[in-house]
Amino acid sequence: MIKKTDQLDQVYNAEGAQAIRESYESWASGYDEENIANGFRLPSIGAAFTARYVPKGGKAILDAGCGTGLVGEALAILGYTNIVGIDISAAMIKHAGNLQVYNRLYEHDLGRPIPEEDNSFDAVTCFGSLGPGHAPAECLDEFIRVTRPGGFVIFNVRPDTYEEQGLSKKIEGLVSGPTVREVERSSDFRPYLLAEPELGAKIFVLEVT
Ligand SMILES: C[S@@+](CC[C@H](N)C(=O)[O-])C[C@H]1O[C@@H](n2cnc3c(N)ncnc32)[C@H](O)[C@@H]1O
Repeated sequence: MIKKTDQLDQVYNAEGAQAIRESYESWASGYDEENIANGFRLPSIGAAFTARYVPKGGKAILDAGCGTGLVGEALAILGYTNIVGIDISAAMIKHAGNLQVYNRLYEHDLGRPIPEEDNSFDAVTCFGSLGPGHAPAECLDEFIRVTRPGGFVIFNVRPDTYEEQGLSKKIEGLVSGPTVREVERSSDFRPYLLAEPELGAKIFVLEVT
């Protein structure tokens, strides 16, 4: 059955960091159950794109907007052992912690500078966390900063809103500079196989040179 999900409408209508935090605090306990029932495949497709570029093992991966840890868990199954997760919602992070696949997890608003050293990660992943009302386009600058040269920033956007969110312009600006190269952008696909038929996702892979 093709469903619309009220929770998803709610999070995409959140305005400001406090509102988005509260939306996810209240969704956290039902997030996995609802999303998995709706055929949420964005985390595993995102992990697959990551595996195309980052060798498995101890490469340091920052999972930005890690939520309940669906991406981290997929990466761990694929053989990644050094994953840091950050998210604005403590309740989402608590679920991610239960999975025991992240080396470190902490609360962080991606609208602020990430408290990590320059060039300290081999890759940053960010899936499902750059939609309307979520992390701002400027956080891509931070993803690039914390990624070492030769590393990758891998994320998805919503094709229907990413221009108005300023993400398209931000990506163009980054790849027109000397230190970022676009290595791949996926075709548009449905993040939910069994719900939200109008919702799309597009994955970008940027390399820090
Ligand atoms: C749709 S969920 C995706 C979670 C996970 N990546 C996945 O694929 O299941 C979006 C996540 O982004 C987080 N988020 C939204 N705005 C954020 C912000 N400004 N800073 C950090 N995390 C944010 C939410 O708390 C939520 O966990």
